[in-house]
Amino acid sequence: MTINPGEFTFRAACHEDLDEFADLYCTLWTNSLRNRGDFEDAMLAGRYNISMQFNRSPITIVAEAGGKPIALCCVGVFDDGKPRVNEYWHERYEDLLAQATARLEQGGDERLAGCLFGDTREKATADRFAATGNEFAQAQINLLIIRPEFQGKGLGGELLRRARTAIREAGCTKFFLMTDSESDWHFYDHIGMTRIAEDHSQDTGDGFTVYMYGDEA
Ligand SMILES: CC(C)(COP(=O)(O)OP(=O)(O)OC[C@H]1O[C@@H](n2cnc3c(N)ncnc32)[C@H](O)[C@@H]1OP(=O)(O)O)[C@@H](O)C(=O)NCCC(=O)NCCS
Repeated sequence: MTINPGEFTFRAACHEDLDEFADLYCTLWTNSLRNRGDFEDAMLAGRYNISMQFNRSPITIVAEAGGKPIALCCVGVFDDGKPRVNEYWHERYEDLLAQATARLEQGGDERLAGCLFGDTREKATADRFAATGNEFAQAQINLLIIRPEFQGKGLGGELLRRARTAIREAGCTKFFLMTDSESDWHFYDHIGMTRIAEDHSQDTGDGFTVYMYGDEA
């Protein structure tokens, strides 16, 4: 599937995008908080997690439609097995990390901890994988999200195509990504990526599985 030429424009992310993508993150992944009315906590989870992804992604690609940001791809690069920091986002990330940590210290349950820091735990797994020097651990697609009303129009494929180009320009030949059973992981099978690992250790009876995919850039 290819996008309609002219329907979308592409650029790097800027600070003004944070709340837009935090809102999208919140819509996609914080149901357990929103369902019980914890909207403020859900938005904090969105803002912290988006800033965390930006902080570890020197390459960010935003798609806009009609002047509004509607999709995002964040790409990390590893130097000697360590994720390179995006300095433009570092202060925002540190600030939101402090807010998220303080919120949990005030009192919070497993759901709040999961929504705030579940992705951070997943990144720690990615970093342990990268530290082994695996051939795929040169770059990582950290995040790929499209507004629901713009899904199915070729944007996911287009953002990945642009991410691959940027990964090659950064001097990397291979990359990996992590996704899970609560995300649209079938997409990566559909586009022909190779599943290189899966982890059932966080399955608490709900079938939760983390999948790792790898590919040539
Ligand atoms: C998964 C996601 C990135 C796909 O983006 P998209 O713009 O909807 O996908 P595209 O329109 O580019 O589709 C490209 C191809 O993948 C297929 N596809 C899209 N989503 C799919 C899914 N969930 N499962 C299987 N195939 C899928 C399309 O049918 C299309 O196939 P074709 O080229 O053979 O016609 C998007 O749906 C999304 O943001 N989902 C929510 C966030 C998420 O789960 N992100 C990924 C996991 S971290």
